[in-house]
Amino acid sequence: MSRTSDSSHPSGGPHTADVLVIGGGIIGLVTAWRAAQRGLRVALADPAPGGGAARVAAGMLAAVTELHYGEETLLGLNLASARRYPDFVAELTAATGQDVGYRACGTLAVALDADDRAHLRELHALQTRCGLTSEWLGGRDCRRLEPMLAPGVRGGLRVDGDHQVDPRRLADALVTACERAGVVFHRALAARLTVVRDRATGAVLGDGTVLTAAQVVLAAGSLSGRLDGVPPEVLPPVRPVKGQVLRLRVPPAYAPFLSRTVRAVVRGSQVYLVPRADGELVVGATSEELGWDTTVTAGGVYELLRDAHELVPGITELPLTETRAGLRPGSPDNAPLLGPTALPGLQLATGHYRNGVLLTPVTGDVMAEALTTGALPDEARPFTARRFATAPPKPVTAAATTHPTAHLEHA
Ligand code: GLY
Repeated sequence: MSRTSDSSHPSGGPHTADVLVIGGGIIGLVTAWRAAQRGLRVALADPAPGGGAARVAAGMLAAVTELHYGEETLLGLNLASARRYPDFVAELTAATGQDVGYRACGTLAVALDADDRAHLRELHALQTRCGLTSEWLGGRDCRRLEPMLAPGVRGGLRVDGDHQVDPRRLADALVTACERAGVVFHRALAARLTVVRDRATGAVLGDGTVLTAAQVVLAAGSLSGRLDGVPPEVLPPVRPVKGQVLRLRVPPAYAPFLSRTVRAVVRGSQVYLVPRADGELVVGATSEELGWDTTVTAGGVYELLRDAHELVPGITELPLTETRAGLRPGSPDNAPLLGPTALPGLQLATGHYRNGVLLTPVTGDVMAEALTTGALPDEARPFTARRFATAPPKPVTAAATTHPTAHLEHA
C-alpha cells in the first residue's frame, strides 16, 4: 500500500484504506471515484481495472425504450441516472481530459411485422402511462428519419431522450479519474473477503496481499455472487447473463449511415444498432442463460446479423471488426443491489443487469452517500442490498447434537 492510516481497525491492525472496492468495472470505478471525492481513502482491487461487462456493452442510455412491465420502480432510478448524464460526462471530461463519446442522438424503435408492431404499441401505451415522452411514427416517417431502414418497416417509436455513451471510453476515463483522485489500485483478483468478529474487514488478494478497510464494497459484476468468505446469507444472488455483441465500421463514404440508435424486437429477440460519432456501429445483443460461458458462437453472430440485416439491409456492406461476448450481472428482479448489507462493514454495488452503463452516475452518488452516512438516499431505498438477504443459519445447540430424539422429532 502506498498509503497508511493511523485509525484502528476491528481486526486490531491499522486500516489500509477507509474503503476497499472489490471490482474495477464501471460500477466499482464510479464508486471509488465518488468516495475519494468525499475525502475517503479508497483502495480498489481488480486484475484489470476498466474491464468487465462495459468492454462489451453498446452503451445505450435507454431508460424509455428498455422499459418493461413490472419495472416501474427501476424506471425511476434509470431516469434519475439519465438526467445526471450530461453533468456527469462534463465533470468526468473536465477531470480527465478524456472524451467518453456521449451522444444525445435519440433512439428509434421500429416494427417489421404485425406482431412487432403490436408489441411496440403496447410499449408505447406503457410509456405513456408512466408519463414518458415517445412518439408513434408510420413506416414512411421512420424511413424519412433513417433512410437506411428496410422498406418493410411498418412503424416505430421515436424516443428523443434515449441517448448513448461509449462504455470503453467511459471505463478508461473512470480509471484516470480514480488515479487523479488518489484511489490506490491493486491489480489482482480479490480471492476472499475477510470477516472478523462478524464484521467485514477487507480482503485477501490472489497474490497474497492482505488489505484491510473500514468498509468494503463488493462491486464485482457477475462475479459478485461467488466471492469466498462472504457469509451465504449476504451473498448477492447475482448470475451471469451472456450477451454477444458485434462491432462494425462505417467507412466515411457511407456516413451518415444511421443518425440515432435503431432497435427492434425481431421474432421475440432484441436487436439494436448503435452508431458512434467515430464511425463504429455496435450491433447487439443476445441474451443467454449459459453460466460463465463467453464463447462467441456462429449462431449468435448469425442471428444478430440476420435480424440487423432485416432492419438495415445495408449493413452487409460494412466491415465486421469485432465479435465478443460479455456477462451481464443479472439479479432476481433485474434491478441493482446497493448499499449496506446485514454484515457490518460490507456494502454492495452490483446486479445492474442490462442497465450498468445507464446507472453509473446515480450509482456513484448513491454509494458515496451510503459510504459516508451509512444510509441509502431515498431514491435508492427500493434497491437496498438487504432485500434478498436470507436468515443466517441457526447455531447448532448442544441439545440438538447430544439428544438423538431432537433429530427424530424433526425428521
Ligand atoms: N441494455 C442492453 C443489453 O443489455 O443488451
